[in-house]
Amino acid sequence: MTTREESRYFSVPIELVTTGKPITYDLWINSSSRQNRVHYVRIFKEGGALSFEDLQGFKKKYFQLYVHEDHRDKYTKSLVASETATDEEKTEVVKDMAINYLGKVFDPGREFTTEVLEEAIEGCRESVEHMVDVVKDYDINELRSLIGNLSFHDFYTYDHSVNVSMYAIIIFKALMPNARKDELTLAGLSGMLHDIGKLKIPTDLINKAGKLDDDEFKVIQTHPGLGKELIECQNADCPGIDFDIIKRVVYEHHENYNGTGYPNKIAGDEIHILARIVAIADFFDAITTKRSYHEVLSTPDALAVMDRTKGKKLDPKIFDTFSSTVNNFGTGHINMGLPDSFDPCQPQNELPFVKDKAKKQNHDLFQKENTYGKVKKAS
Ligand SMILES: [Fe+2]
Ligand SMILES: [Fe+2]
Repeated sequence: MTTREESRYFSVPIELVTTGKPITYDLWINSSSRQNRVHYVRIFKEGGALSFEDLQGFKKKYFQLYVHEDHRDKYTKSLVASETATDEEKTEVVKDMAINYLGKVFDPGREFTTEVLEEAIEGCRESVEHMVDVVKDYDINELRSLIGNLSFHDFYTYDHSVNVSMYAIIIFKALMPNARKDELTLAGLSGMLHDIGKLKIPTDLINKAGKLDDDEFKVIQTHPGLGKELIECQNADCPGIDFDIIKRVVYEHHENYNGTGYPNKIAGDEIHILARIVAIADFFDAITTKRSYHEVLSTPDALAVMDRTKGKKLDPKIFDTFSSTVNNFGTGHINMGLPDSFDPCQPQNELPFVKDKAKKQNHDLFQKENTYGKVKKAS
């Protein structure tokens, strides 16, 4: 069980601490020698610089270094700017930061106030800004591999929100190659918050990976409306964040291009462009990111499955731009489709394929050698 004090510090890999210039965060160790007890002691103060040898000394002396939660943003910023950390290391830390803030929104035990929402959205925005710096020039396949190498959380919605955010950034960039950073950030933030309405839905239902009965599905379908109401009634105000647009993405991300979606059955350009982008990001993540409970599709098969919903579920032009960012992805081998009722926001035990008679014969449903993703619980 995590104690209150433990939860205020997070561990950092010693090799990722910056050397040769002032560090912007304090470093702590747990000096308690008793099991199940923690006692944190600060061993290095922000503003000082460490040499490579200092760090080697720390490595020999201390089992683990920690940073206080209050310095998480400074640590993340410093790591993202680092020339030695890999993109995977950077993204892992940025994802942790985002999940930390998403946790503030989705924590059922916490009183939900405008201040909580504002703090969480500010934090998510900052995480998305870091993400933009790391992933904006990635193509789908590269991003997919990166995502597959990150740790998973046991709460599906956290991983899903972070992944959708990253895909939304690269889809927006593919559509508008000269997009400004604030535009890419808004795309990513809309993706990160698209399922915010789920915080009003019981957690066991959100995490239910089995087939939902009609009543359960009806409850799930209320999440866009609940999310919209939540943003409206909290009346949050964060400078530079366009809540009207985020509200539209939250409300419209389950609308279908042909007007068969929910909650309002709007169609085509009536659906906000970021909601149409998020719908594609949402779908792709659901069928390609490995979970402990269902197989995933290779990128060509995923694009082939999604291609069949072009003009129905998905905006055809945005989808074509999205798929064109992968060179020579081929046509996929799959002759299965997903029903119009497929809900990418929900975890699935098994993808609910339906046979598509009009298409070519199936060769192999899954390219099993592509086991993208590892399953590891984040702390
Ligand atoms: Fe979703
Ligand atoms: Fe959703």
